[in-house]
Amino acid sequence: MRLEPVTEDNYRAVVALEVHEEQRNFVATNLKSIADAWIHRPHMEPLAMYSGDDLVGFTLLYRQYPDDLHIVRFMIDRRAQSRGLGRKALAAIADIARSEQRAQLTLSLVPDNAVAHGLYKAFGFTETGEMQEDEIVMKHDLALPH
Ligand SMILES: CC(C)(COP(=O)(O)OP(=O)(O)OC[C@H]1O[C@@H](n2cnc3c(N)ncnc32)[C@H](O)[C@@H]1OP(=O)(O)O)[C@@H](O)C(=O)NCCC(=O)NCCS
Repeated sequence: MRLEPVTEDNYRAVVALEVHEEQRNFVATNLKSIADAWIHRPHMEPLAMYSGDDLVGFTLLYRQYPDDLHIVRFMIDRRAQSRGLGRKALAAIADIARSEQRAQLTLSLVPDNAVAHGLYKAFGFTETGEMQEDEIVMKHDLALPH
């Protein structure tokens, strides 16, 4: 799994990625996320996810605090879901955070997003007990390299 910048060459394909209809409530469109990234540049970074040569997903990362990498958006295209790519993408994001000496990943999700909750929990995220605009906040502490 490779995370690459969203560029002039791939942004149309990124915008064309989509989740299942019943998942639309769980994540903003990639078009909206790219707009958010522009507004909050340079702290927000939109990234395209590739498995081999295939574009399979999208994430939007936010660097607000030095210790934390916040996952604002995270999606795998509906045609590529349930193949373990979500897990691999989280590992790639954790690698980015570690390479920047960040101690934790954070994110939030809507309470009825059971698949995402299961994935995050299995990966090592725990609920902080806080809510952010009706979303459950989760964090994952990263073992930093010495
Ligand atoms: C959440 C999401 C990114 C997971 O991506 P994915 O590539 O399908 O995830 P994986 O294949 O790595 O599966 C992760 C786990 O979820 C489980 N899972 C995947 N799809 C599932 C489904 N439809 N029903 C039940 N469990 C499912 C898998 O069994 C796996 O658990 P395991 O490792 O214990 O076997 C993807 O479903 C998605 O894009 N959803 C819509 C957008 C969204 O909700 N984003 C998160 C916003 S916070």
